[in-house]
Amino acid sequence: MWENKLGVAIIGSGGISYAHVEAYQQFGNQCSIKAVCDVSEERAVRLASYIGKEVEIYKNCKAILSRNDIDIVSICTPPFTHKEVVVEALKHGKHVLCEKPLAASLQECDEMIAASKKYNRKLSIAFQNRYKKDFLQVKHVMESGMLNPITFSQLNALYWRGDSYYEVDWRGKWETECGGATINLEIHLLDIFIWLLGKVDSVYAEMETISHDIDVEDLSMAMLKFADGSIGQVNGTSSSVINTMGFNISGRNKGISIPIMFHALKENEGGFPLEDKDGLKQLEKKANEVQGEYPGHTGPVNDLFQAIKDDREPFVNGEEARRVIEVITAIYKSATIGERVSLPITSNDPWYTTKGLHHFVKKGRVRKV
Ligand SMILES: NC(=O)c1ccc[n+]([C@@H]2O[C@H](COP(=O)([O-])OP(=O)(O)OC[C@H]3O[C@@H](n4cnc5c(N)ncnc54)[C@H](O)[C@@H]3O)[C@@H](O)[C@H]2O)c1
Repeated sequence: MWENKLGVAIIGSGGISYAHVEAYQQFGNQCSIKAVCDVSEERAVRLASYIGKEVEIYKNCKAILSRNDIDIVSICTPPFTHKEVVVEALKHGKHVLCEKPLAASLQECDEMIAASKKYNRKLSIAFQNRYKKDFLQVKHVMESGMLNPITFSQLNALYWRGDSYYEVDWRGKWETECGGATINLEIHLLDIFIWLLGKVDSVYAEMETISHDIDVEDLSMAMLKFADGSIGQVNGTSSSVINTMGFNISGRNKGISIPIMFHALKENEGGFPLEDKDGLKQLEKKANEVQGEYPGHTGPVNDLFQAIKDDREPFVNGEEARRVIEVITAIYKSATIGERVSLPITSNDPWYTTKGLHHFVKKGRVRKV
């Protein structure tokens, strides 16, 4: 496809970096992983040996960024480092695939988006579920208008994580994880939920630290008011033994739930529901117009390659990934001040900055059990 293969470097060699490596390896005809980096040499060595061919190992990413044969860097470091490393990489002319969450605050997101524009380099965020067939099918059905008007939506990102999950040095603290179950776990489904349901006008939320000895929340519950007037309820936790992830989106007669299932009803005598087999078939037919599957991180990697080749924006670029950070910021703000928060959160709002967000969220911090 290209005369020369794209040179790739992985910065951060912990858990998620392996998913990046496996995805790049699926496109071995288009790219070559040339370098890995971690402040822990041991982890970088482990990742390099997993790659199984000659890659150079670095403890500091600066030397990688100066290399002319590196075109793309995957940022697999903890959330609090993303802004600095991403901006530096863009400045050095690299295209970037950054892990979620994009950043700790809207201010950081905007700096990253501005750097991507200034240095004319692609910024893609690893929301790999956006490329999964089920979600693309749901998006396709929703764009057809078959569900409209939306009458009810609810998201459950109910995870269970033991205490040792939070023993990883960067987790459990505002300064490094940049939030808790909402920004780290719920974010994947929440990103998809707002991608499907559209602009959020306002947020009302509660959050708590229920069952872990951490500073950040391990539970949040929020009501989102969408621009179309519909209301969505979103729950995110790392404290639920009901360890299940999914959502329901319902219209008046048709609906979809994740794990993917279609629902259609018509009115029976007395206004009671009766299964609508034809309605169900219509939904399934529409969904099946979308095919194809991108396992693991192959979706974002393939899309970034295409975006570079065609000189277009990545499917999940900085602006797209910023939307969920704005909703999460509103959840944190609302849960802290006890009031409904209207969007957008503008640059003169103290919650726009990382410093402001951390200051106010700690000052008004919720009960710790
Ligand atoms: N997309 C997904 O499904 C998914 C899943 C898990 C984690 N993540 C995200 O990936 C990121 C990393 O998570 P993880 O679970 O792999 O964490 P991890 O702790 O396993 O790995 C992070 C690595 O980064 C290294 N590191 C820290 N600062 C560095 C720096 N300045 N330069 C180089 N290396 C540095 C650490 O030593 C560590 O090895 C987080 O943002 C997390 O939210 C995404």
